[in-house]
Formats: sequence, structure tokens, C-alpha cells
Amino acid sequence: MLRDPSAKYQPFPLIDLPDRRWPSQSLSVAPLWCSVDLRDGNQALAVPMNVGQKLEMFDALVKCGFKEIEVGFPSASNTEFAFNRRLIEEGRIPEDVTIQCLVQAREDLIEKTVQSLMGAKQVIIHMYNSTSPAQRKHVFGMTKEQIVGVAVRGAQMIQDRIHRLEESGTRVMLQYSPESFSATEVAFAKEISEAVMAVWKPTPERKMILNLPDTVEVAMPNVYADQIEWICRNITNRESLIVSLHTHNDRGTGTAATELGLLAGADRVEGTLFGNGERTGNLDIVQVAMNLYMHGISPGLDFSDMNRLIQMYERTTGMTVAPRHPYSGELVFTAFSGSHQDAIKKGLAGYEKERGIWDVPYLTIDPKDLGREYREVIRVNSQSGKGGIAYMLESEYDIELPKDMQREFGPLANDLVDGLGREVTAAELKAMFWKEYIERTTPWALHHFHADGVDGVFTCRCSLVANGEERGITGKGNGPIAAFVDALIQDGGVPAFEVTTFREQSLSAGTEASALAYVQIKRGDGKTVWGAGVDTNIELASIKAVVSAVNRAG
Ligand code: KIV
Ligand code: ZN
Repeated sequence: MLRDPSAKYQPFPLIDLPDRRWPSQSLSVAPLWCSVDLRDGNQALAVPMNVGQKLEMFDALVKCGFKEIEVGFPSASNTEFAFNRRLIEEGRIPEDVTIQCLVQAREDLIEKTVQSLMGAKQVIIHMYNSTSPAQRKHVFGMTKEQIVGVAVRGAQMIQDRIHRLEESGTRVMLQYSPESFSATEVAFAKEISEAVMAVWKPTPERKMILNLPDTVEVAMPNVYADQIEWICRNITNRESLIVSLHTHNDRGTGTAATELGLLAGADRVEGTLFGNGERTGNLDIVQVAMNLYMHGISPGLDFSDMNRLIQMYERTTGMTVAPRHPYSGELVFTAFSGSHQDAIKKGLAGYEKERGIWDVPYLTIDPKDLGREYREVIRVNSQSGKGGIAYMLESEYDIELPKDMQREFGPLANDLVDGLGREVTAAELKAMFWKEYIERTTPWALHHFHADGVDGVFTCRCSLVANGEERGITGKGNGPIAAFVDALIQDGGVPAFEVTTFREQSLSAGTEASALAYVQIKRGDGKTVWGAGVDTNIELASIKAVVSAVNRAG
């Protein structure tokens, strides 16, 4: 990298719009959406989709609720042309869905595009030509007037042909993109757009789409918003236009640029699922839609089955969704940090009680709204706290560790996870718990236990194996646990202790039902230790929990 990048790069000039209005606007309704997955997304794939894959994606886009879908560039290849024909001839396009096709301002390409659309109910013909100074200079070697001439001639060629579609019953809408708009002088973008408008003659009743692409992000999103507001305020006949945004993500601000562009007055948004597209990608339309949703604005798109949508996307495009991709990534509803896990756990519990406005810390939306499960929310690694560990045991295995026991088991589990050096599964966590508490059979292992009570005084007789030797011990108390504690201390020689907490829960329903008992004991030196036991008999589960605590107390 250069020590002085200004020798090679310069900031993009600001737009002269001192009374800009977009900063004080807010969004209250969703824009019109147009998916460009099958065109802009597809053309960016190392191996573009075949007809079968495009059909699968088309159906998925329809299911999400897209009403405008750019299906391709039919003049560019036989596959693209064939895809249009399949869609139309097999009646695959729902009544309320409009297909859109991209074309350059060239006669042969326009002719082919029109042919590919014959028989469709409603279509958008989308013509573009590049307008930025760099394109004019390096790519076309044309003056501004010549570039306007290209657009006007292309617009006229389309105008001359659409009657063929209209006469056969197709409703046609026209769209123009001054490609590389964001790098174009706004005054020239206005001039060329108005020149196209002069040919197509849109009216408020029969609007045309003016798509203003951020083909390559060259500035901060506020500059794009200024460009959009400038055009919206200065272009003639604004009321006959649907102003459309089409952002890419070169500076990582495609979503921000789109949102600010909407504040600046645009009506429509083009983008792709998960942001597939040239270079850094197109706008991820899911993000803008979900950002509206999380503000309580219905986006008019439905991503309830996010996992399935991702599978379809990965299957058809060969691309992957990054784990931390907003809303769709595998890890976006997952917290590893202990304090986050604790807050989420409390927030979810609070939300479950009140069911009002979503206010769960660290989760911008309810994962359930995207078909994700709560149990995906918390995963455990060495950074996790007791809250996450307890949540995982409870949500996966119904093991409800008493609060104080969580404080004991949390650090123990953390050390074990740290030793593994990776994330652990719920099954591994349960195995750790079992090994630490349930399977503690040294020095004492319970063989047999029996207790009888007469007038509130219980006598227990039990046999235990201690260091390989079987021993029978007896004791008395005001309950079976107290009698067993008495037997251990008086007869078994275990240093004095008392039971300070006892909790039990059932683990599963049906004949296999077992009980899980938790016992906290306090040794003579004041130290507390937890134990746990499992048995189909609740009394035996609690006695085993005492043995577990005694064994752990050492
Ligand atoms: O990014 C772009 O400018 C485009 C146009 C063809 C709309 O994809
Ligand atoms: Zn694009």
C-alpha cells in the first residue's frame, strides 16, 4: 500500500444539496422489490445456473413474495433465451408476477429480447448503457452527446417493437438504467434519463422505471442518498417515474446506501438473496427487508423458512452464506459470550411471559420468525458462562440445574471445554455433567438402600461398597435422607456434614420416567458441595445424590 494514497486515489466529489431532506425522513412502508438473482446474481457465478436451477430459484423467489423478478439477459445466451421460453410456455409465471429482462441499447439484442418475451402476461424491458466519465473515456471513447445518442436510439428501438408484444396481450413496462450512475455527474444522469423519457413518454398512469445503479460503490452512502434526492427533486416529470435503487457492495455499504436512498425518495429496490452478485455482490435484499421488519414494518416478503431458502440458494448458485451474514448466517442467533448468554436467557424468559414487543437483549428479532429454533440460540465454548451451559442442558435435556449448582458446575465445565479447545455439543456437556456428578462412585458406591418410618422416625439399612469392600450401615432420622446421612456419619465414618439444599425433578415422561435429584451438603469446615443422582425411584435418586456429594467432598 502507498504511504500517501492521495497520489493515486481521490475522494468522490460531494453533491451540492445544502437543503438535503433525506436525513430527517424515516421509513414507514416497504418499497417495491425486484429480485435480480437470476440476472445480476447469475452472471457473477463462475458456473452460471442452468435452466433447471434457474427454474428452482424462480419458484423460490415467487414463494418469498417477489412480484418483479429479473429473469435474465435473453439476448446473451441460448440458456437465457430458453429459460424465458420455458417460463412463458409452461405457464410458470403467476398472474401477479412480472418478469424483467435486461438488454443493451443494440438493435439485434433488443429484437431477440422482444422475441423471448412473446406470450408473457406482463414484462419489464430493462435497457441500460454506461454513463460515467471513466466508461465514456476508457470503454467507449465517446462524448456525452454520443452516449445520450446510444440511449435515445436504444429507447426508440424498444419503442418501435413493444407494439408487437402489446398487440398479443402483453403489458409492457419500460425501465432505463444509466449504468454506473453513482459515478456519473448527476446533471448528466438527469440529462440522459430525460432524453430516454422523451422517447418513452411516461405518464403518471403509465410510469416507467428509472433505475439509478450504484454499479460500483465509489462514495459513502450519504453521497448516494444525495444523488438520489438530487435526481428526484430535479428531474422533469418525477410523478411519471418509479425511481429504483440498485446497489452493489464494494465499500461494504450496499444496505446502508439502499436505506438512505429510500429516505431520499426512491420507490423501488433491486437486489439479490444474500447479496450474490458481481465482485462484493449486489444488495442483500433479505437484509433491507428484515431491517424494515425489525422496525415493525411489513416488508411484503416472507423469509419464514430461512434454512430452506439458504439450502436452495447454496444448491443452485454454489455460493455459501457466511456464518455471520446478517439475519441468515448460521451464527447470527448464537451467543458464545457468557454475559450475552445470560442476558438472552433472561430476555427470552421475560418475553415468553409478556409476549409483547420484542426486547430480548442481543437478538434483534425473534429467531422463530425466520423458522429458526431457540435451541440454536446458545452454544457453548470456553468463553461461555454458567448461563449458557445451564440453558443448553435445560433446552436439550430438561436438566434444570439449581442456580447455586450452576455456579459450581459452570467453571468446571468451562475448564473442560477450554481443554478441548473447541465448541462442545449439548451431548458432550451432558456427558461432562454425568461424569462429574452422577457417575461418582468412589470412594462410596450405593448397593442397596431401604428405609422405614414409624411415628416420623425413619430407620435406614443400606449396603455400600467402599474401596472395594462391601459394608452394611444403619442410621436414624426424621426422613430417609436424614437417616442415610446419620448412617454415613455415625456408622460409616464419613466426616460430619449436613444437607443444605435438596431439589428433585422428573426427567422424562412414561414408563421410562426417571428422577434427577440434586443435593447440596455443607462440610464441617463450611464448604458446600453439590451431588446429583438419577433413578426411576425418587427416594433412591436423592440417596444417590447424597452419595455423589459425599464422594465429591473428598
Ligand atoms: O450494477 C448495475 O449497474 C447493473 C445494471 C445493468 C442495472 O447491474
Ligand atoms: Zn448490478
